[in-house]
Amino acid sequence: MAAPRSRALWGCCGHGWWRAILASRLPVLRSSCPWGPLGVRLLSQEKQASETHFGFETVSEEEKGGKVYHVFQSVAKKYDVMNDMMSLGIHRIWKDLLLWKMHPFPGTQLLDVAGGTGDIAFRFLNYIQAQHRGRQKRQLRAQQNLSWEEIAKKYQNEEDSLGGSQVVICDINKEMLKVGKQKAQAQGYKAGLAWILGDAEELPFDDDKFDVYTIAFGIRNVTHIDRALQEAHRVLKPGGRFLCLEFSQVNNPLISRLYDLYSFQVIPVLGEVIAGDWKSYQYLVESIRKFPPQEEFKEMIEDAGFQKVSYESLTSGIVAIHSGFKL
Ligand SMILES: C[S@@+](CC[C@H](N)C(=O)[O-])C[C@H]1O[C@@H](n2cnc3c(N)ncnc32)[C@H](O)[C@@H]1O
Repeated sequence: MAAPRSRALWGCCGHGWWRAILASRLPVLRSSCPWGPLGVRLLSQEKQASETHFGFETVSEEEKGGKVYHVFQSVAKKYDVMNDMMSLGIHRIWKDLLLWKMHPFPGTQLLDVAGGTGDIAFRFLNYIQAQHRGRQKRQLRAQQNLSWEEIAKKYQNEEDSLGGSQVVICDINKEMLKVGKQKAQAQGYKAGLAWILGDAEELPFDDDKFDVYTIAFGIRNVTHIDRALQEAHRVLKPGGRFLCLEFSQVNNPLISRLYDLYSFQVIPVLGEVIAGDWKSYQYLVESIRKFPPQEEFKEMIEDAGFQKVSYESLTSGIVAIHSGFKL
């Protein structure tokens, strides 16, 4: 069951809890405020003045979305090449591990939120097709009397090879989706993909729709993480699984020191040289430091109503995969 709204508001991005309570009570106060319209206006201003962080900068909640949008609009074309350069290709292994953890089968319906240029979605389709081929081989081996035409036909139909699986890639940024669609076309992905423009905090999907929800390197960019988690819970079917791959807290002091040096001294320089954009990559490293560590994020996932929540730290905690179920 989803956490009650007041409880969820406690987790509101580190703001004073009293602000959250006042904000949530505004409609009631409007009708009964003892200080009249002025009091209501003051409370409204309080709500508007809610602050959050954009990297190390303090900004209003209203500002953050626009700033994050600008970052990804600016880096979209160079996003994939920068990922390879910055992580020396290791992001590919982390994403593969996410898929192995998910272990989807033909028929699985996946929602990949903040899906950007489609890395998780393409891996999902490859995984399903590999599963399907494995099954098919086993079945064909068991059926002795098929003609070669029948065998060839079984291998040809791409849609069949997904067994009804579909991945919906939902992202708030048009440019990221555009690059993703071009990549899909160039790499020959046709069936089983849908690209949807949407906000993780207000997903444009019905309740109880998906088997799996993934969000990879996306959730730290969202203004209200608690709302995104509640939305994840809402759109998953009972029994569905939440999986999040995100930067996390490094658990080895020596590696942490080296990682900090690399992050702050090298990554923005790479961003400037390759993408002509120092600021966006400065935001990237700062936003990683502002994201809650493994245990704290686990509690936030539990607060959203997920059960059997667990996590696995990878590469000394540089990233972690959190998992939870809607039961
Ligand atoms: C670092 S990229 C990750 C892309 C992809 N998941 C990957 O692993 O390569 C972060 C993505 O989050 C998206 N994003 C940021 N805020 C969002 C929101 N509120 N709702 C949906 N997507 C959001 C950005 O547009 C961007 O595409």
